[in-house]
Amino acid sequence: MKEITRRDFVRSSMTAGTAITAVAASTASSQPQAATEGRIKIVALSCSPRKGQGTAASLSVCLETARQVSDRIDTELIELAEFRINGSLAAGVAGPEGTQDDFPKLAPRLIAPEVRGIIVGTPVYFGGMSSLCKAFLDRAILLWQKDFALSNKVAGVLACGGTRNGGQEVTIHAVQVSLLCQEMILVGNGRPGPRIGATVWSGAEGGVLKDEFGLTTARALGRRVAEVALRVSVS
Ligand SMILES: Cc1cc2nc3c(=O)[nH]c(=O)nc-3n(C[C@H](O)[C@H](O)[C@H](O)COP(=O)(O)O)c2cc1C
Repeated sequence: MKEITRRDFVRSSMTAGTAITAVAASTASSQPQAATEGRIKIVALSCSPRKGQGTAASLSVCLETARQVSDRIDTELIELAEFRINGSLAAGVAGPEGTQDDFPKLAPRLIAPEVRGIIVGTPVYFGGMSSLCKAFLDRAILLWQKDFALSNKVAGVLACGGTRNGGQEVTIHAVQVSLLCQEMILVGNGRPGPRIGATVWSGAEGGVLKDEFGLTTARALGRRVAEVALRVSVS
């Protein structure tokens, strides 16, 4: 494999960053102006390699509740399963022949000024987040380097496990640490029974959509992200 020099690293991260530099620069300085149009967007990011499964389905419940908070709220579900994300690029280690990943395509959809809330959902894998989730969070160092393009966006976390107490909370914590480092505004799931995030169980008979306890936390997270996102948006 070709050895990556420091110069290669700087060049490759600049190339990957070019597509998002303009958006990031305007985001850092123009969030209040963008919100004057009145509408805001909440994005849910599913970090499961399995499209449309437990994580995505429960995130859709979060978004449905977020839309009920206000008719000013638009929502979007993004599934990372549709993207190639290479966490090693965060450390400047390129793929074969210097191949890049899809992070530069994904980033503008997260840092857009109208996006005021992001809900990150991950499956629980051995008591932690999926490797896809970690790769994404590590790749997001690019946004940290671009004037903290996620700064002051509201963030909530959902974890979907195959067992009721399979490590959802510890997984949520780990994701939150990374989002805090991005200067995001972290919220947990709100009432009833406020806790640190949405804890969903795909092993329930009939799957996540039959896990009433988990769905309650998912709805409460969607509502909380929406409420705080509206509060922090200037309109
Ligand atoms: C490698 C691997 C490890 C897993 N480890 C756990 C675990 O520690 N705790 C748990 O509750 N479920 C665990 N599961 C089950 C998944 O969390 C569960 O199937 C979940 O629904 C996956 O999310 P998805 O439906 O969005 O793909 C594991 C699954 C895999 C593939």
